[in-house]
Amino acid sequence: MPHLLTLCGSLRQGSTNRALLDACEALCPPGLSIRHYRGLGQLPLFNPDLSDCAPPAVLDLQAKVAAANGLLIACPEYARGIPGAFKNALDWLVASEQFPGKPVALFNASPRASHAQAALRLVLDTLSARIVEGASVTVNLLSKGMTAGDIVADATLAETLDAALRHFHRAIKEGHCP
Ligand SMILES: Cc1cc2nc3c(=O)[nH]c(=O)nc-3n(C[C@H](O)[C@H](O)[C@H](O)COP(=O)(O)O)c2cc1C
Repeated sequence: MPHLLTLCGSLRQGSTNRALLDACEALCPPGLSIRHYRGLGQLPLFNPDLSDCAPPAVLDLQAKVAAANGLLIACPEYARGIPGAFKNALDWLVASEQFPGKPVALFNASPRASHAQAALRLVLDTLSARIVEGASVTVNLLSKGMTAGDIVADATLAETLDAALRHFHRAIKEGHCP
């Protein structure tokens, strides 16, 4: 069965982006499964000198990305940019042979976070990812303190995420994007 790997750009315990990705697990369509990457905070700072003998935490990230049929990314905006911890993870994936062509759905938990989204798209384009537009959605969770359960219980949010996940599943099965 194909699986998605979620990548959350926030390290915060009560992260809205994490809640959004956790909600996707409950809303995952039949025939697709979701695994969560939770090692962002354990990654060393990117150093190209280490690329040929990457630390175990980096190998773990690269292997999980390589094995995934698609990536589901939710990332906040800090100081009008991508959080350093998440950019660091993406830097470790630059040389990853498995990244080019990888289907990616971008979930944005805040309508005002346009700078980070634009920067993410630029970086993902540089990594030759295939952003699946029909599966990339913006919802408004900012300052609402919603848990994954709250998101699943909200009919409008659940419908939006369900439609995005189904679109992503179809795009992966059919092998074309967006
Ligand atoms: C230091 C700091 C800087 C921030 N800068 C921005 C910003 O430039 N633009 C924005 O839209 N939100 C900004 N925010 C708001 C965060 O993106 C928002 O709190 C988001 O929910 C954090 O993601 P999380 O809930 O997944 O941890 C900032 C928050 C902090 C703490």
